[in-house]
Amino acid sequence: MSELKTTDKDQSALAHAKCILNRRKFLMYSGGIAAAASTVSITLFDGTAQAEIRKANVQGYPRKLIAKLSELKDHQPVNFNYPDDGKNSQAMIVKMGNVQAGGGVGSQRDVVAFSYICTHQGGPLQSTYKHVADQRVMGQCPLHLSTYDLRRHGIIVSGQAYQSLPQLLLEVEGDDVYAVGIMGLLFGRQDNLIA
Ligand code: FES
Repeated sequence: MSELKTTDKDQSALAHAKCILNRRKFLMYSGGIAAAASTVSITLFDGTAQAEIRKANVQGYPRKLIAKLSELKDHQPVNFNYPDDGKNSQAMIVKMGNVQAGGGVGSQRDVVAFSYICTHQGGPLQSTYKHVADQRVMGQCPLHLSTYDLRRHGIIVSGQAYQSLPQLLLEVEGDDVYAVGIMGLLFGRQDNLIA
């Protein structure tokens, strides 16, 4: 327990901080400009006692319960849909065997969630999660072999895609894991939030 007595939600936000700030445009494209049906305020600490505090508002996304931490088993993805049940909403959450990841939640920061839809031309990435030594990837995409690094916010490892795999923002309350937003634009959508 740190002196700041940060909560799980704070820790989750900390892990997301760098990525969120670097991908401000993604947030804008992915629903930040949508009408606010709900608002999630994320407070970001820079890791020092007198940290500069920034806030990012992820507006419009549903807060959806997607898993129980205690029920996640290493390297066994659990499928769900987010932010709705519409086109290209397929996603998964996975506990990556105690390998910490950007945006990871849980005590080991190894629980992450990503879209299943390749950002290149929408290839299906179901059943392509792999773990080798400390590597944690999604891919290869069956269409053109793109592979994404799940430890580093879904950046491209190889292949023809040129955008990171959309990562879902997670929050933890007790044993419950909620999806609360998306970093990046889901393939085939002009806005992650559809009417
Ligand atoms: S659709 Fe996945 S690499 Fe082209």
